[in-house]
Amino acid sequence: MKSPIFAANWKMNHAPADATAFIRSFLANFGKRQDRSVIFFPPALSFGAVVGALKDRPDIQLGVQNIHWEDKGAFTGENSAPIARGAGAKYVLVGHSERRHVFGETEEQTGKKVAAAVRAGLTPMVCVGETLAQREAGETEQVVLRQLRAALSTISSAQAADCLVAYEPVWAIGTGRNATPADASAVHAAIRAELHRILEGGSLAVPILYGGSVNRGNAADLLAAPEVEGLLVGGASLDAEGWASIVLKRSGWLSRLSFKAYLRNHSRTAMFTRFLVILLIIDSIVLVTAILLQAGKGGGLAASFGGASSSSDSLFGTRQAGNLLTKTSWWAGGLFIFLAFILQIASSRGRAAPTSVLDQAVGTPPAAPTAPATGTGSQNVVPLQTAPATPAPAAPAPAKP
Ligand code: 13P
Repeated sequence: MKSPIFAANWKMNHAPADATAFIRSFLANFGKRQDRSVIFFPPALSFGAVVGALKDRPDIQLGVQNIHWEDKGAFTGENSAPIARGAGAKYVLVGHSERRHVFGETEEQTGKKVAAAVRAGLTPMVCVGETLAQREAGETEQVVLRQLRAALSTISSAQAADCLVAYEPVWAIGTGRNATPADASAVHAAIRAELHRILEGGSLAVPILYGGSVNRGNAADLLAAPEVEGLLVGGASLDAEGWASIVLKRSGWLSRLSFKAYLRNHSRTAMFTRFLVILLIIDSIVLVTAILLQAGKGGGLAASFGGASSSSDSLFGTRQAGNLLTKTSWWAGGLFIFLAFILQIASSRGRAAPTSVLDQAVGTPPAAPTAPATGTGSQNVVPLQTAPATPAPAAPAPAKP
């Protein structure tokens, strides 16, 4: 697992003086670390104060919450990507749910903003997410993947490979109701499969963050969920100490060692499959050992059990029918065939991806998902509706000079 990304979206909070005090307090709780990345998205007018407060901490990155899609011009009140870059930003949020739903930003505009960001050397963090009505109508994947395609449609696949994606269900933002780790994983897997298609096979480097009512209590579980590679946090990033405690959460693979988190994040079928695979491996080891001992290759070991000429030959002797080694071989061989048969049945009834039992057992992401545009890689997402024949971004609002 790559090091997780912790992004703080302050939205319209923290004036310059508060922002400086926040950063001072945060740095007192958060020393330099190689195993995680931290990004702040302060409001535009507090950006300079945060740059100043972070001057000795180049390990912490900065981004802006919004840009205009034009590089410059008569757009009163707006900021462009080159201005953000010049002020010290490396990242920009594009398509945040509040931009879409409060300010009416269209999918076409998100695409233009992504292009503007890339032109200026900023890394876009593309935000996607469905409303509650869309989730309840079973349109989650359809909406999220359409937003993703629209946002990335204006740049090349090589440029898209450098972007970040944040899945933020609208119903989870600021509501105190976060997606479960399994829900988040399912949508992230669908996004991953779609990225694989968009990027012509190269999606593994694009981090996918989860956002929506993340807090100290749920951050570790969400981070431990498969495919969740970071967190984009609003409300819980406004308190310096609380934010530091979230950023210091254990990274994903360590959290996965937690049995509680493991139970919460895996289906019973996946756990049963893993159990069978482990059993098969142990059985194979027993079988090979028993065969080697009988073939005489483990003569030294057999001898230590009494050897062919010893008095315990009847129990551990090498080739005698009915002795312990022969019985062990028979039982281990039978169990091997039985387990292989069960696992074969399990894999032939399995889902589209991951395709093999071993993939399911070790939780490897699908190596080459061939998911269609609507995505089939996630079994936990609310069922898909038929995708519209053509993506339907709303008409762009005319830019007023
Ligand atoms: P909350 O963490 O306050 O739900 O906000 C999430 C968000 O919108 C981050 O961009």
